[in-house]
Amino acid sequence: MSVSENYKIIDHEFDVVVVGAGGAGLRATLGMAEQGLKTACITKVFPTRSHTVAAQGGIAASLSNMGEDSWQWHMYDTIKGSDWLGDNDAMEYLAREAPEAVYELEHYGVPFSRTEEGKIYQRPFGGHMQNYGDGPPVQRTCAAADRTGHAILHTLYGQSLRHNAEFFIEYFAIDLLMSDDGVCEGIVAWKLDDGTIHRFRAKTVVLATGGYGRTYFSATSAHTCTGDGNGMVARAGLPLQDMEFVQFHPTGVYGAGVLITEGARGEGGYLTNSEGERFMERYAPNAKDLASRDVVSRCMTLEIREGRGVGPKKDHIHLNLDHLDPEVLAERLPGISESAKIFAGVDLTKEPIPVIPTAHYNMGGIPTNYHGEALRPTKDNPDAIVPGLMAVGEAGCASVHGANRLGSNSLIDLVVFGRAAAIKAGKVIDPATSAPEINEAAFEKVLTRFDKMRYADGKHSTAELRDRMQIVMQEDAAVFRTAETLQQGVKRMGEIWDDLSEIKVTDRSMIWNSDLVEALELDNLMANALVTVVGAEARHESRGAHAREDFADRDDKEWRKHTLATINEAGDVALDYRPVHTKLISDGMDEKRIAPKKRVY
Ligand code: FUM
Repeated sequence: MSVSENYKIIDHEFDVVVVGAGGAGLRATLGMAEQGLKTACITKVFPTRSHTVAAQGGIAASLSNMGEDSWQWHMYDTIKGSDWLGDNDAMEYLAREAPEAVYELEHYGVPFSRTEEGKIYQRPFGGHMQNYGDGPPVQRTCAAADRTGHAILHTLYGQSLRHNAEFFIEYFAIDLLMSDDGVCEGIVAWKLDDGTIHRFRAKTVVLATGGYGRTYFSATSAHTCTGDGNGMVARAGLPLQDMEFVQFHPTGVYGAGVLITEGARGEGGYLTNSEGERFMERYAPNAKDLASRDVVSRCMTLEIREGRGVGPKKDHIHLNLDHLDPEVLAERLPGISESAKIFAGVDLTKEPIPVIPTAHYNMGGIPTNYHGEALRPTKDNPDAIVPGLMAVGEAGCASVHGANRLGSNSLIDLVVFGRAAAIKAGKVIDPATSAPEINEAAFEKVLTRFDKMRYADGKHSTAELRDRMQIVMQEDAAVFRTAETLQQGVKRMGEIWDDLSEIKVTDRSMIWNSDLVEALELDNLMANALVTVVGAEARHESRGAHAREDFADRDDKEWRKHTLATINEAGDVALDYRPVHTKLISDGMDEKRIAPKKRVY
């Protein structure tokens, strides 16, 4: 008897199935539906609860509403921020398309904050400068107070409904349906509220499943950020790219991990150590507290290490906002005023907020071109695509962030590439044809894995394995790394991978079985975590967020290349590399300006 006989199976057919309803997923869904493509959006949480809702400070675009700016300056800053690992064509596309993508959001109804003249309000953010990095900081980050992601998400969901996109809410995507010759033909999902299994046949699947912040013990990411799309891609034998680059946000609330937006420093906030010193002036005399995130996080870590941390254990740093006008704080930063009170117990108009660098963003993910098409590089063609598969947002790696992302370049990445995927799909999908038929053998394999997890009866609970994974990531793949910590990380993560085959799930039911959901999420997280530590151990240089104490310098000759990692069932990770794209799309940028050089702020 086949496994599928034990399940109630429901079939669907769509032109496009988008998995994930954060900013990228919704922008892709809306773009597809607007063009008349029959579009489904599958999401494990209600769309407006997706993690984009937590994005605070804003979305970068060179609108020049509050001072001179240009897409070339934005592109330059993004390249420098990426520490010359980003792909130039994708970074050009991002910076050039950003203003139009933001004006579209405005017209869809996003309630941006306004200047006196009624233009979109823009604030400074780390690493965004005028004059090709020479400064001063530019006001480029378009904001809806400090709830920008919230505003975008609600608007895009409403617009997607208006264009008749079909939402499959509280469906957990299990795995891709691949043809025998490597074409993506659909996806299998589990409907959490009635236990049915759904097979979505599709001409294109778009993975917009977000990052894998929850591989770490302390993260600004929601508990739902479990790298599900990356896990599915890894199980399909496809590569993940640049996974060793994990961003730590300088200002997570100490002890709670909750984000305090970089917009706080954009509005004039600053960091101090136990001596009350504004130490960033020493490390980054030009940009100071608005240096790039990787730089600020490292400086904070050094201050703590050298005994100048604050608090009884001298293990964190102060973020000061009490010198700012309380009216400005209430108008521009209402959300963090609340977060500081709830999570740190401080009134930020009177006292500093205790903060610490906290895992925040994954630069790596599913390799794509700047149209959002997923890649399966070969020796002959490093840009070969996977037919039928796209990836956008934090799940994708276009690569616009390279080794380090600038703050507010995430929201713009979501909408620019969600939109780009829709534009591409509109060109390649023929609504008059049928979606591929189900590959029954592939489906049986997907369901067999699901069934095995459902009935798993080993000796390790999901909670135990997840704790171990998070501690290894926190200790061994942190802000600073060495061969010793990374080798230990690879070893410890390998042991957890082995123990994963001995996982125990106690609830066998199919309706609202959160025990099984968490086990499946852990399986996805583990694939992400393992390739992260293996890729980091192998990269013998420091670049962006990957700071090796034993290889302190960037090594462009050996390492200006993307890591590609594949993983097999036994947990063996194979590494390969592909070249960085140095070619530009247009002649709007002087190539000499963007040649690699030392990165200082
Ligand atoms: O600090 C923040 O508001 C976060 C923004 C981002 O990660 O882009």
